[in-house]
Amino acid sequence: AAGVRLAGVGSSVPEKFLTNSDLAQLVDTSDDWITSRTGIKKRHILSEGESLGSHASAACLRALDMAGVAAEDVDLIVMATSSPDDLFGSATTVQACGRGQAIRASRAAAFDLTAACSGFVMGLVTGAQYIRAGTYKTVLVIGADALSRYIDWRDRSTCILFGDACGAVVMTAKDDGSCALLGIDMHSDGTGMRHLNCAFAGEGMKPLSNGHASDEGSYSNLHMNGQEVFKFAVRAVPTVIEAALADAGMEKQQIDWLVMHQANMRIMSAAADRLGVPAERVVSNLAQYGNTSAASIPLALDEAVRRGDIKPGEVLAMAGFGAGLTWASAIVRW
Ligand code: ACO
Repeated sequence: AAGVRLAGVGSSVPEKFLTNSDLAQLVDTSDDWITSRTGIKKRHILSEGESLGSHASAACLRALDMAGVAAEDVDLIVMATSSPDDLFGSATTVQACGRGQAIRASRAAAFDLTAACSGFVMGLVTGAQYIRAGTYKTVLVIGADALSRYIDWRDRSTCILFGDACGAVVMTAKDDGSCALLGIDMHSDGTGMRHLNCAFAGEGMKPLSNGHASDEGSYSNLHMNGQEVFKFAVRAVPTVIEAALADAGMEKQQIDWLVMHQANMRIMSAAADRLGVPAERVVSNLAQYGNTSAASIPLALDEAVRRGDIKPGEVLAMAGFGAGLTWASAIVRW
C-alpha cells in the first residue's frame, strides 16, 4: 500500500464571538456555571451572510500553504460537516474553480461526509484509504461546522456549548509505504440517536393528498440529553483510543498528545486520567471556542502545531465522539 503523510493543517474561525456573560443576558445562566461545568469561556459564531464554505476554504489554503502543495494538485476534498451551507454539499463550494473564496482545486473530486463530532476522524480515515489504495495522491480533509444554525438560543442546556469553526488537514502520498495513521477504530450506535439529534421535522411531501405537494418542514433545533451524552463520552473515548492503540500495536505510554474532540473539560480530563496521560499533554482550546463539532480536532491540532507544541514525528491520539451516536479514534504520527 502507498504511504500517507500528514503534510499541513489550517483553520479559520468567525470573528464574532459570544462570552459567557453575553449568554447570561439571553438565558438564565452564569459564567461561573458554564466555566465549572464545561470549561468554556466563549464561542465564535458565524455572522449573518457569512458562509461556512468561505471559512473552510480559508482553512484549506492555510493547510496547503503549510504543506507546500498547490490547490491544483489536490485530488480529493472530503468535508466533514453536519451543518453545510447547502444540503447538496458544501465540499464543492470549497473546490469551486473561479468562484468567490473557493480554493480552485480544479482537478479535485469533492463530497461531504456527515458524522457529527466524529466527522473529522472518520474523514481522515476515509481520505487515508484513497491514498493507501493508490487511487489518489493528495487529499484535503476538512472538519467544519456551524451548529449555531441549529441552536435554540432560549435553551440554556445547549446554547452555551457550541461554537462555529473550520479546520483542514492535507494528506499526501509517501513513497516509503509508512502510514501516518498508525491505528484506527470507529463505531456507531444508532440506538443512541435519541440522545443527540437535529432531525428533519415536518410533513415532507404529501403527494396528491389535496392536489398539490406540501413544502412544509425544516430541520429542528439541536436536541440533546446532556447527561446521557456525557456518560457515553466518558465511557467511549478512552475505550476507542485503547482500541486504536491496539490496532497500532502501541502502548498508552507512547502517546505524546491527546487531541480529542473538544466538548467538555470534564470529559477530556476523565479520558486523560483513564489513559494515564498528564494534563499538560492534553491539547485543549475549549475555553476559547466551545464545542465546534467536526472542526474541533483540526482546529486544536492547528493551534498546537503553530504554537510549536506538537512537533514532527510525535504521536497523537485523536478521538471524536458525538451524535449518531458515533465515536472514532486515530493514532497519528504528525
Ligand atoms: N446554566 C445554569 N444552569 C444550567 C444550565 C446553564 N447553562 N444548563 C443546565 N442547567 C441546570 C439544569 O437545569 C439542572 O438544574 P436542576 O438540577 O434544577 O434540574 C442543573 O443545571 C444540572 O443539569 P445537568 O444537565 O445535570 O448538568 P451537567 O452537569 O450534566 O452538565 C452538560 C450539563 C454541560 C451539558 C453536560 O451534561 C455535558 O457536557 N454533556 C455532554 C455534552 C456533549 O459532549 N455534547 C456534545 C457531543 S458532540 C455532537 O455530536 C454535537
